[in-house]
Amino acid sequence: MKILFVSPEGLPFSKTGGLADVVEALPKALAAMGHDVAVVLPRYRGTKVSTIVVPSLSIPMGDTLRFPAVADGAVLNGVRYFFVDDPEYFDRDALYTTRGADYPDNGERFALFSKAALEIAKQVWRPDIIHCHDWQTALVPVLLRAMYSGDPLLRGLPAVFTVHNLGYHGLFDRGVLARAGLPASLFSIKSLEFYSRVNYLKGGLLAADWITTVSPRYAKEIMTPEFGHGLDGVVRDRAGRVVGILNGADYSLWDPEHDDFIAAKYSAKYLDGKALCKKDLLREFKLPEKSVERPLIGIVSRFADQKGFDLFAKVGSELLRENLSLVALGTGEPKYERYLRALASHFPGKMGLRIGFDNALAHRIEAGADMFLMPSRYEPCGLNQMYSLRYGTVPIVRATGGLDDTVEPFEPFSGKGTGFKFADYDGRALLAAVRTALEVFRDAKAWRRLQLNGMAKDFSWKASAAEYARLYEAALQARIPRAPAASN
Ligand code: ADP
Ligand code: GLC
Repeated sequence: MKILFVSPEGLPFSKTGGLADVVEALPKALAAMGHDVAVVLPRYRGTKVSTIVVPSLSIPMGDTLRFPAVADGAVLNGVRYFFVDDPEYFDRDALYTTRGADYPDNGERFALFSKAALEIAKQVWRPDIIHCHDWQTALVPVLLRAMYSGDPLLRGLPAVFTVHNLGYHGLFDRGVLARAGLPASLFSIKSLEFYSRVNYLKGGLLAADWITTVSPRYAKEIMTPEFGHGLDGVVRDRAGRVVGILNGADYSLWDPEHDDFIAAKYSAKYLDGKALCKKDLLREFKLPEKSVERPLIGIVSRFADQKGFDLFAKVGSELLRENLSLVALGTGEPKYERYLRALASHFPGKMGLRIGFDNALAHRIEAGADMFLMPSRYEPCGLNQMYSLRYGTVPIVRATGGLDDTVEPFEPFSGKGTGFKFADYDGRALLAAVRTALEVFRDAKAWRRLQLNGMAKDFSWKASAAEYARLYEAALQARIPRAPAASN
């Protein structure tokens, strides 16, 4: 099968979060299964390309045309990469935001990107399936139905749309339709209209052949008002076409046995290296050497409401009064950065903080910490807890979305389980889970058992990639002439 991925980010070229990890690993796993896979990404600042495949596409945008080039980034791990090259739109300091706020022309930027991706599917690399990701590419299925339904080349092309996070909609004023050259008829309750504004994600949910999300539990959650961000009704309407497929972990990048970023390699058979990684991490954060005896909790996260930092902020001081150390790496909302800075300065010998994006340090935290904390309000899948399991770093998580699907609570009597979970979104519940973990940590034998249980888990991409392949197959089989796009 020929599968074309369209994504706003993907490693090794661009990343702001887990989407980029997925868009690197899943195509690679599908290619390893023998499928023919290509990925379309925007050409952001610093992306090197080898050749120009199309020097200039003509993309209608409102009253004018734009002329992005299509660049070829060669083949990596059996996967072909194409870049939409429009420097004014994508050669910027960041991917989506400037000084903490969205770029004001994100609606136009990602409309152009989605249109260019469809032209690539038509002129450069003709797929059997198009697979797009998150609101930035939600217009791909919308336009396929609205504008390409008469095109002999793209008509009937099945579109799979993966929601990595229902909390980000791509919400714009109505004028974006004219500015981005989108048909006014799309301003309909059956397509992009959402409380008098334009919602790209909603359009994608309605137009895709199949909607997938990144864990089975999140697939159920997004049909409820609590997790639906106002779109739960839309998701429920399409319930028969919604599938939860758990993300995998790419163990060629995240495995302490082969990880070049960490101070000492180790595995379930030779765990000694982990103690060296802990010392290295304490040194990195200038925490006292003697604290090596204390349990060390790691955090690597976007500092956002989604990730549970309002909860953490309620009990941070109390947590740090326990016999433990904490290291945190991340960037995000200024209020949480301020809070964490203040907390770290209150507990200088116990807490280390790094504000920034640092992949090598993320690996060193996974390896050097004893526990990994993810108190998310919601978590579509979450990758770090899967990485933690492989590194013998015990996850403490809120039981939501993929965190609930991947972490099994430890039962000291049977010795089963891989981590600690709490259900209520409540500071007390978080503290109680951490305290239970601290108690088990004091029992070296039980702790070792718990670590080994986690390290033995296999969340590699193989099974998930096979599930996607089955879904593509089903979408291809069901290929039927499409109805024209809905209008008022
Ligand atoms: P999300 O995509 O919601 O942010 P995930 O758990 O799916 O959450 O993925 C986050 C990914 O980004 C992980 O690979 C994690 O290691 C990485 N990451 C997050 N913040 C940082 C950071 N500050 N520095 C380095 N890597 C980070
Ligand atoms: C999103 C989600 C995260 C998920 C990632 C990759 O960013 O917040 O839970 O793991 O996408 O699918």
